[in-house]
Amino acid sequence: MAYDIIGNIAILKGEDKTRKQKLKEARALLRKPHIRTVLEKSTNVKGRLRTIKTKYILGEKTLIAECRENNSIFRFNVETCYFSPRLANERQLISEKINMNDSVLVMFAGVGVYPIVIYKYRKPIKIVGIELGKECCKYFRENLKLNKIPNGKIEVVQGDVKKKINGKEKYDVVIMARPNLKDSFLKYSLIASKKGTRLFYYGFCRDEDIKKLIDNLLKEAKDLNRKVKLKEYIHACDIAPYKHRFRIEFEVLD
Ligand SMILES: C[S@@+](CC[C@H](N)C(=O)[O-])C[C@H]1O[C@@H](n2cnc3c(N)ncnc32)[C@H](O)[C@@H]1O
Repeated sequence: MAYDIIGNIAILKGEDKTRKQKLKEARALLRKPHIRTVLEKSTNVKGRLRTIKTKYILGEKTLIAECRENNSIFRFNVETCYFSPRLANERQLISEKINMNDSVLVMFAGVGVYPIVIYKYRKPIKIVGIELGKECCKYFRENLKLNKIPNGKIEVVQGDVKKKINGKEKYDVVIMARPNLKDSFLKYSLIASKKGTRLFYYGFCRDEDIKKLIDNLLKEAKDLNRKVKLKEYIHACDIAPYKHRFRIEFEVLD
């Protein structure tokens, strides 16, 4: 697909097209029911905040998307906040792994999509979302209201997971909705884990490299003097030709 649809905004990806071709594609997109704005992606996802830059092509001039998925609604700025519409199915699948009596930590929570979808499906006793981006946190709080999440059910923590996780709180489930960066952040998820914690790690690699990625994580846990057991891994979505986002589930044994 040469574009992403994020609610009311379509984002074209074909840099090698002429202006005339882009306008033609934009006019066709604006005929679709919900699309009111067409932008073009002008950079790849970059930096710690995993953001993109866009260029305006046609329609209403806005960067604010309102997007529905999994019986929830999300509002955010497409240039200052990361959001992937391709993870909607994954968010439903991971929700099925959460129980009502679980406490859940979502590291790298973005605009609150994982916490809100999990709450809607499973109503666990507590969800905490940690997110570095101030703008993301602003929309995360707004999305709690838009989705009528009762006060106190989902806590928004703005800051770096490396500073915000201190081991005082241990969770039944830790979801690492990781940015595609070198740092595994495993150390911090283990600080927030106790015996029996289910740890969901998102990693990015080619099919042939998944075993190596898992071995490296098991070794990293061992070097940190923690025992973890691999439960399963699944292909969560594609991020580029031949490169995938894998969800790797571990059980923490100590
Ligand atoms: C791939 S995005 C995932 C966002 C969200 N979970 C989603 O799926 O829509 C990664 C997020 O991690 C945040 N982030 C990056 N480094 C971080 C850190 N050290 N501590 C907390 N959040 C961080 C980024 O700002 C970004 O919003």
